[in-house]
Amino acid sequence: MIQLDKVSLYYRQDCPILSNVTLHIPQGSFCWLTGPSGIGKSTLLQMFHLEIMPNAGQLQILETNIHKNRRLTICHLKQRIGIIYQDFKLIPNLSIYNNIALPLRLQNTDESIVSRWTNRILQWMNLQNKAELYPRTLSGGEQQRVAIARAVIHRPDILLADEPTNALDEEQVLRLMDLFFDLNDLGCTIIIATHNDNLIHQFPAPRLKLNNGQIRIDDAFKT
Ligand SMILES: Nc1ncnc2c1ncn2[C@@H]1O[C@H](COP(=O)(O)OP(=O)(O)O)[C@@H](O)[C@H]1O
Ligand SMILES: [Mg+2]
Repeated sequence: MIQLDKVSLYYRQDCPILSNVTLHIPQGSFCWLTGPSGIGKSTLLQMFHLEIMPNAGQLQILETNIHKNRRLTICHLKQRIGIIYQDFKLIPNLSIYNNIALPLRLQNTDESIVSRWTNRILQWMNLQNKAELYPRTLSGGEQQRVAIARAVIHRPDILLADEPTNALDEEQVLRLMDLFFDLNDLGCTIIIATHNDNLIHQFPAPRLKLNNGQIRIDDAFKT
């Protein structure tokens, strides 16, 4: 779950991304995040990922009140959240295998499990021949698939996806949506920022519309 109580968020106070917003996203929701370019979708996802804190108000993620908690709790909480960045943010000096394995290693997962899961997802993403390569040698679509694999490998409770289909072809988009729905069936909250209206029409779900510092929900959450 994600709960905002009177949250304000801004880089510059005179053009807030959120202005006194109250919002509840129940655990297990699937929703789209939309709004004009530059309105703050990526910034909002980064706040949900606890990289940036609200300037005012209360934020709760997975039943945890962010303001009351110390850095260590926030580090642990972040391990339960997966994020696919718009610009992928792969780590340049780690191989594809090591990029994807990173969330598991941060949880001190046994290397035999790291190997089994990483190889399985490399296969699923059709990247098995790229395991030993470095991000800069991959195409945009391949890098996006690595970013997706890294975001889901540790089976997060919340998955934040920032324009995750930009570099993918149509068939890959359908497979990705299947993956998102499978994770959602397992109880993962999924929030996908997109400007792709065709995709939204193809897969109807509640839409969080960000504009003028407010979030409007144009369809109720299923509970
Ligand atoms: N690190 C930053 N410092 C200051 N301003 C930023 C930073 N990142 C983004 N912005 C500004 O915040 C606004 C929202 O950006 P962003 O969240 O990327 O929007 P969107 O994802 O909806 O296109 C933009 O005006 C952008 O220039
Ligand atoms: Mg963005």
